[in-house]
Amino acid sequence: MSVLELREVYRTHGKGETAVHALRGVTLAVAPGEFVAVMGPSGSGKSTLLNLAGGLDAPTRGEVVVEGSVLGGLNRKQLAAVRRRRVGYVFQDLNLLPSLTAAENVALPLELDGMSLRKTRRHAIAALEEVGLADLALRFPDEMSGGQQQRVAIARALVGDRRLVLADEPTGALDSQTGEAVLKLLRARVDAGAAGVLVTHEARHAAWADRVVFLRDGEIVDTSGPLVQPEELLHNVPGVRA
Ligand SMILES: Nc1ncnc2c1ncn2[C@@H]1O[C@H](COP(=O)(O)OP(=O)(O)OP(=O)(O)O)[C@@H](O)[C@H]1O
Ligand SMILES: [Mg+2]
Repeated sequence: MSVLELREVYRTHGKGETAVHALRGVTLAVAPGEFVAVMGPSGSGKSTLLNLAGGLDAPTRGEVVVEGSVLGGLNRKQLAAVRRRRVGYVFQDLNLLPSLTAAENVALPLELDGMSLRKTRRHAIAALEEVGLADLALRFPDEMSGGQQQRVAIARALVGDRRLVLADEPTGALDSQTGEAVLKLLRARVDAGAAGVLVTHEARHAAWADRVVFLRDGEIVDTSGPLVQPEELLHNVPGVRA
């Protein structure tokens, strides 16, 4: 069974003449142990796709299924539980809370889920160890480098037993070495059985994925297996930032 399935998904913002069709009939399945990269020009619908996959936004039409649950069929409480337990999300702008330490930031999804403090602390330290930051557990975000903050955001997405890991340009402003390290961490979790979706503009980052899906104007225009170099496809899609 797929961990994530998008079935003929549409997402339209606004109505009438000013309507923006952010996604137009996207169908995509991601299996356990599979890492999919999503590429495409700015405004092509990549973040929209990720937000729908993570239950942060709802489709105008079509279905999003996470581990067998049709998200549109869940009530608010059930949807929140899926988001806190099943989905790990690394945002384009990290979203770390400045008043919480690294460990507290990482523990947050579990704490919101009502897990005991002792348990959340244990899981948070384990996730920080996974990203090589256990020593900085008590630091606040503004006491860490950009790369370290990025790894805290990754730890928060991996904490507990998340089977769907979604990352929107998680390598953002990082130097290329730190960026590769971040991708390696995501890859490792996927290899351990999670499903991963990575939005990226960089072909060399997409090369970590098993499959690359190209979006253009809200539609999947191409998809490549692991054997095709992403650079090759990029040259065939006019307007895509390489
Ligand atoms: N809340 C919203 N209201 C109206 N339009 C929106 C909204 N969110 C996104 N859009 C529009 O939907 C389209 C897709 O946006 P999206 O953020 O998914 O693009 P993207 O591929 O992630 O771009 P980028 O590479 O710049 O991050 C864009 O035209 C955008 O302006
Ligand atoms: Mg985006």
